[in-house]
Amino acid sequence: MSKTNTYILFSLLLAILMTFLLEWPFSPLNKAIAWTALKTGRYTTIEQSGNYVKTLLGGSDLTPEKIKTLPFFSITDTTKEITDTTIPFSVLTFENTYFPKDFSYLFPSGQDGIYETEAHTLLLDNREVANYLVKGKVLREPITQIVYNGSKEHTPLIKELETNWKTLATALTKKEKPTAERHLTAAEYELLSKTTALSDLSYRLDASIKISLEPGLETDISVQVGTVEVKQKNCTVTADIPILFLKDQQLYVFDKVYTALASLCAKPKATSGLLNCSNCWLAPVSKQFSLRSSYIPYVVSTGLNGGGYVTPDTKKALAKLFTAAKENGVTSIRVSSSYRSYKTQESLFNSYVNNEKKNGLSTTQAIEKANTYSAKPGYSEHQLGTTVDLMACAYPCNFYDSANTPLYNFLKKNAHLYGFVISYPNGSQPYTGYVYEPWHVRYIGETYARELYNRGYLTKKGFYLYQFLVEKGKY
Ligand code: DAL
Ligand code: ZN
Repeated sequence: MSKTNTYILFSLLLAILMTFLLEWPFSPLNKAIAWTALKTGRYTTIEQSGNYVKTLLGGSDLTPEKIKTLPFFSITDTTKEITDTTIPFSVLTFENTYFPKDFSYLFPSGQDGIYETEAHTLLLDNREVANYLVKGKVLREPITQIVYNGSKEHTPLIKELETNWKTLATALTKKEKPTAERHLTAAEYELLSKTTALSDLSYRLDASIKISLEPGLETDISVQVGTVEVKQKNCTVTADIPILFLKDQQLYVFDKVYTALASLCAKPKATSGLLNCSNCWLAPVSKQFSLRSSYIPYVVSTGLNGGGYVTPDTKKALAKLFTAAKENGVTSIRVSSSYRSYKTQESLFNSYVNNEKKNGLSTTQAIEKANTYSAKPGYSEHQLGTTVDLMACAYPCNFYDSANTPLYNFLKKNAHLYGFVISYPNGSQPYTGYVYEPWHVRYIGETYARELYNRGYLTKKGFYLYQFLVEKGKY
């Protein structure tokens, strides 16, 4: 081998060796360079020094275990902090053949997972030479969120929901609680089973319905898929009832049923008949409505001139009226008649009928005549304990005595201020069936009495106490 050849070969081997030592990142030379740099602090950034540490570890990621294997120098590992780090959830898509076509919902709601991460700092001679993270335990797994795309045709679903509604309506009417519960949201079931306010529930439920599907509000547990529009006959009000799909139970239920039904028209009151009120003070006792023979109000002595018995509220109001009447110059005001029981009214009416018969009328004629000034038993406002006949003439005298005129004028002008109303004003006979009785006043409370007065009941034909009370419907 020539000298030149030997030289070339030697140079080549040297080049290979140098390349190996310098270019291979974990060569003994590079490790020595890293070691020196770390030991002498000849690095500019923590990233750079971190890479030197990695070189010393032969390229491994930094972990507490690996750090312990570093043989060359004492290196300290400290844990700076432990934090929670989120792991994002993923989303999948599925079909739901029971959910309306072209609608979709999410279930369950996606949720990020969380794991613990420790942040470590590596120290060499108290200098920070590397930072690294260690993933600790998983604190909460992420939930995979599923988007359910509905594929059920709308027409058969609407039919099914109509059947559900009918079943619910029947169950509510018949108070079949388990069936009703199946078709209602839990909150709505609770409300409906607790409330007793809708006494005419079956009347309200006797309504036509129209179901429409439309995506609505979505929560974690349910999604609105449409509404039931409820409409009663002869009632302009309509109400919407939301239809919810319960995601977990895969069930359709109705919500806000009570509120919807409450907004509909109430069952109209009967226009005649036997009243079944328990406190009847605002009932339209008249020729159309009668009180039960057993209806006996709580009454107390009036404590006024003429005596008699009335309800406590009537007593208070009547005392005020007496004082005002006297202040207005009505002298000798007295109670001529007040509370009359069913039995008393019966005897009174019969005695009038007998009187009329003595005047030559037949029984039918006598009854008809007597009934123009006296109510049949059950039909008299006097049975309420709120009604009195007043007089202001010196005894013995009768209602037609002219000495009563100042009293009657006072009553026309002022009775309403004390909560009283003249039940049979002048000209009311065609509507009430009774002759003009300016002495017969009934207590209905100040608010109503003033309202009726302001609506002109003393002059307006056809609108009297009876019509007013029917309108108010407080019975
Ligand atoms: N006088 C009236 C109509 C009654 O008997 O109640
Ligand atoms: Zn009377």
